[in-house]
Amino acid sequence: MLCARCKRYMPEDTPGEIKDVQKEWDERSVSYDTYFNTFGGKLDEYLRWKSIKESLPEDKTARILDAGGGTGMVALPLAAMGYAVTLCDLSPGQLKVAEEKLRKHQLSEKVGIIEADIAELPFPDGFFDLVLAIRGPISLATAPSKAVVELSRVTKRGGKICVDVSSRYWAVIREYGRDPGTALKLIRSELDHACGAHGFGRVFSPGELEETFEKNGIKVTGIYGDFVYYLPEEMRKATKWEERSFNQVTEILERLSREPSVTGMGNDLILVGEKY
Ligand SMILES: C[S@@+](CC[C@H](N)C(=O)[O-])C[C@H]1O[C@@H](n2cnc3c(N)ncnc32)[C@H](O)[C@@H]1O
Repeated sequence: MLCARCKRYMPEDTPGEIKDVQKEWDERSVSYDTYFNTFGGKLDEYLRWKSIKESLPEDKTARILDAGGGTGMVALPLAAMGYAVTLCDLSPGQLKVAEEKLRKHQLSEKVGIIEADIAELPFPDGFFDLVLAIRGPISLATAPSKAVVELSRVTKRGGKICVDVSSRYWAVIREYGRDPGTALKLIRSELDHACGAHGFGRVFSPGELEETFEKNGIKVTGIYGDFVYYLPEEMRKATKWEERSFNQVTEILERLSREPSVTGMGNDLILVGEKY
């Protein structure tokens, strides 16, 4: 079965090739930022910034890596706060949008832009005080396990890491009504790839995610769920809303996000950790 969104054959357990990932994100670069003008996009930002802020160093001269940083949705606000950021991504199209935005905001000198694969980072061990991979780059990478090795490797001892990935159990819940065979393989961990919130990619349960990072020298201090994709599509995609309803939904999401008994049900999982 073809996934309507990313046109990939769902039961196939193979990540894309680098050139296909580049092509997809080059194409999406033109419209990528419009998502952040929607109700769902604003909620997604709010949740992620809560975890990023927990991890931010006090020292503004600290080195920050925004891995798979795309159009700079994270790097730009960090630069505006006064941090120096290295933004890397596979997609020249996404990076071009980031470059233009930084120039427009006169923040170009705060952000170094590099075209690189997060599974093969061109930085020495322990180089960064904070490593970020926000909105799915690990799940979308062609070599997700290597990406975790690399992101952990370039984090300094005592440095922080904050990433998010697509969730296994959300993929199971989405699939079991339309393709129970695929859902069964996903829940048995016989299949590790599914269509997630950001496209076709590697899915993780909270336990798998924690184990993968702990194996690479990261002490996991929190795993939180993102439940934005449980909202009806018309609500997520709305470009106008009442502040009161935004505030109410934000509080619900925030509480769900930090409720350990439902973490694994989130559409994405946000991990916060520290290198030991
Ligand atoms: C959903 S976007 C997120 C972009 C940005 N982090 C944000 O928060 O808006 C996913 C990004 O991951 C990038 N990506 C996917 N695989 C990658 C890889 N192996 N190395 C570097 N970037 C990758 C894509 O090009 C895309 O820009």
